[in-house]
Amino acid sequence: MNRYIADFNSDEIEKEYHDVLVIGSGIAGVYTALEIPEEYDIAILTKETIEISNSVLAQGGIAVSLDKEDSPELHFKDTLYAGAGLCDEESVWVLVNEAADNIEKLLEYGVNFDRKKQGELAFGREAAHSKNRIIHAGDTTGKEVCDKLISVVRTRNNIKIKERTFAIDLITEDNKCKGILAYDEDTASKKLYLSNVVICATGGFGQLYSRTTNPEVATGDGVCLAYRAGARLMDLEFIQFHPTVLYHPLNKSFLISEAVRGEGAILRNIHGKRFMPEYHELCELAPRDVVSRAIFQEMKKTGATNVFLDITFKDKEYLENRFPNIYKTCLSYGIDMAKDYIPVAPAEHYCMGGIRTDAFGRTGIEGFYACGETACTGIHGANRLASNSLLEGLVFGRKIGQEVSKILKDNGKRKFDISIKYSANRSEATVNADEVIRHIQKIMTEHVGIVRNREGLLLAKQEVGKYFDLIKNMKNSTLRDYEMQNIVLLATLIIESALEREESRGAHYRTDFSKTDDVNWKRNIIKKLEI
Ligand code: SIN
Repeated sequence: MNRYIADFNSDEIEKEYHDVLVIGSGIAGVYTALEIPEEYDIAILTKETIEISNSVLAQGGIAVSLDKEDSPELHFKDTLYAGAGLCDEESVWVLVNEAADNIEKLLEYGVNFDRKKQGELAFGREAAHSKNRIIHAGDTTGKEVCDKLISVVRTRNNIKIKERTFAIDLITEDNKCKGILAYDEDTASKKLYLSNVVICATGGFGQLYSRTTNPEVATGDGVCLAYRAGARLMDLEFIQFHPTVLYHPLNKSFLISEAVRGEGAILRNIHGKRFMPEYHELCELAPRDVVSRAIFQEMKKTGATNVFLDITFKDKEYLENRFPNIYKTCLSYGIDMAKDYIPVAPAEHYCMGGIRTDAFGRTGIEGFYACGETACTGIHGANRLASNSLLEGLVFGRKIGQEVSKILKDNGKRKFDISIKYSANRSEATVNADEVIRHIQKIMTEHVGIVRNREGLLLAKQEVGKYFDLIKNMKNSTLRDYEMQNIVLLATLIIESALEREESRGAHYRTDFSKTDDVNWKRNIIKKLEI
């Protein structure tokens, strides 16, 4: 495998220097940028426009133990329970203990969360939480938070937003971060962004699957550029499938928030029978991996493509008020959730694994940090607790901001230049990137999805391996080519990790190893896998 997926000569391409580079414009990226003092010059590189990210689509909310009957200890316990024995406890303590301060900061930035009549924050419920602790803004919490943060970013003269700028690879010398080789989508040309500090907040990789709640930009670019630069990746086999994603001929990726089940909605199979009590004592509010597997089983048993979510016992006015976006979207497909069952099926939603970091986002490459879904601090273990993801972006974003600020203060501003010429022996072979990606999505969905086994994983490995060999020395020239490189690499690494874990735990369920192995289990940490 080549160190860089594109050739470049730093003496010949345009260069731009910044004190800090942030890749990605979701909650983790923009919040971290805001946590760095204004005397430092920051550029946020984002593949699409700044408004397009996975965070914007987050519906449910943010978990925080602010209610008088709640505590960080209970939030800690619930996170560990959902994480199926694989959470990094130290990092989870950081998450739950520092949640409230960061929510305070969001309130200062003007984020409007829903409140009760008396004015206090309203707390919703989601799966596997023992208390009502989800603060929300209707059913578009991510949008409210991102809109407010982006509006603050726009007032900061020290932060430049570089849209339609794709981060191809991390530039390193002697395991030290030097910047980003980027692709300007409008001019179709490469450019070097130089910096000793790069914060990777590129989100997840839902686009490896045929059905996902993630936007089209979620192709795992950050994880792959980190891997090629020598960072360690962790827990890649744990992919969360959200149980209730709309299943309609015209829309198979719209999320029906878990908050709907938090308000009492029940799941029925196509014969109208409620089934969750047969699978778990928490019924519809069991951890996500349990609910998704139960739906998978019911669909298999009944030969159906979906199940139904039933909240018809609530009236229209209530639903329109509590879930305005979901209500409106369902209605646009002819589903009145006050009267009709909503057809749903699980779809890829979140990856627990990613770039291995400590609680300060450090990756092992000097100056290179990771935050949000692309990072893996170990807080989610084998299955993320609902509404811990936006929180993760805030809590660890702030910690990275503090760490980076200290380093910048100690080191002072250090402008530098580099001279690197990289050229690999590349083939002229061309492939249709869209076709390759579609095929990978099919393979991953069929064999590396909610339920796996060795036979399917080996088949997936063989199929993905063919693409890997075909494209590994390709001369990539379009954005889609770069995305394809990342999708194929990541699929390969996920399959390896899933094969390696010969047990079932959280979101990783293998029919050939259906038990959790508490004696021999280990964490999958990948460092420069030889492939
Ligand atoms: C949801 O609203 O169901 C998604 C929330 C989350 O992924 O934490």
